[in-house]
Amino acid sequence: MKMLITGGAGFIGSHLCDKYVGEGHNVICLDNFMSGNLNNVRHLLDYRNFKLIKGDIRDVELLDKLMRGVDVVFHLAAQVHVDRSYVEPKLTYEVNVMGTQNILEMARIHDVKRIIYASSSEVYGSAQYVPIDEKHPLNAPHPYGASKIAADRMCNAYIQTYGLDIAILRLFNTFGPRQRDIGYGGVVSIFTRRVLSNIPPIIYGDGLQTRDFTYIEDMVRAFDLVLKYDKPLQEPINFGSGKEISILDLANMIIKICGKEGVLKPVHVEPRIGEVKRLIANSTKAKELLGWQVSCDFYEELKKFIAWYKNYGFEPRITL
Ligand SMILES: NC(=O)c1ccc[n+]([C@@H]2O[C@H](COP(=O)([O-])OP(=O)(O)OC[C@H]3O[C@@H](n4cnc5c(N)ncnc54)[C@H](O)[C@@H]3O)[C@@H](O)[C@H]2O)c1
Repeated sequence: MKMLITGGAGFIGSHLCDKYVGEGHNVICLDNFMSGNLNNVRHLLDYRNFKLIKGDIRDVELLDKLMRGVDVVFHLAAQVHVDRSYVEPKLTYEVNVMGTQNILEMARIHDVKRIIYASSSEVYGSAQYVPIDEKHPLNAPHPYGASKIAADRMCNAYIQTYGLDIAILRLFNTFGPRQRDIGYGGVVSIFTRRVLSNIPPIIYGDGLQTRDFTYIEDMVRAFDLVLKYDKPLQEPINFGSGKEISILDLANMIIKICGKEGVLKPVHVEPRIGEVKRLIANSTKAKELLGWQVSCDFYEELKKFIAWYKNYGFEPRITL
């Protein structure tokens, strides 16, 4: 198959590049390196079935060229940082919403067989009930979440209007190697970097806000099951562990694994405006349709991640 992976030099996208280059597919990785890292895909550059393109999903002409003959698009490119979306809502909208619309339109024109879109649990906002299933209201309080709702619903519109084969994956927090804190990284990498640097983790508010964490291996398996599903999915599907972990517990676990108990304690600051209070997935649909559920143990994977971070997490980010 010929595949286009947008955001392929990022955390999740680069793991998909690894998997499908390894399986012998022809993979085009498109990334503008807004948050991507050349180190994530450098090892693939010598493979004949891998092509890295520095470019932007806002560039329709480029997409028109790249989409020719493509069978499957994995669309992950996004302005992913919630904090940045507060200060740059327009950029977030242009990349996440208009960029997604460009992808959908070019995929339609070029008869792409399947589009697999990385939506987010952030579309739900704070849980009105738990665990959150796909029918939960979409109520994101911040520009990042709002942009993911708009893109998620635009996918739905392309399904309804043009009959495109689109799978909408609502990922809950994902962590693992290649997730670095570069100022805005995921909470696991932010805390890990601080604790390994002997700086206390900062918690907004009481730390009782909760998230649902999935290890990258399980998430790659989710994408792969969706790719191989024998008919169009055409609806959003949650992918999360169903386990609720508070940010305070997470900080303390990281302190413990790093051997800094009694040395470092989380520092509490004012709560963040619009921060989501609870996120826990109901992934029954993923289990019933695809046989997917989390198989990795959170604490064990956290230990592995911290070991990885010690070796590679502090490498400077390299762009093309
Ligand atoms: N990691 C998570 O916990 C999580 C949870 C829910 C949803 N998601 C979604 O999964 C996707 C991947 O997230 P990630 O964690 O790997 O983040 P990431 O920042 O590592 O990856 C995003 C990639 O997109 C690239 N990009 C940004 N703007 C672009 C543009 N205009 N054109 C081309 N490339 C562009 C970035 O350079 C980066 O490599 C995102 O769509 C994100 O919203 C991630």
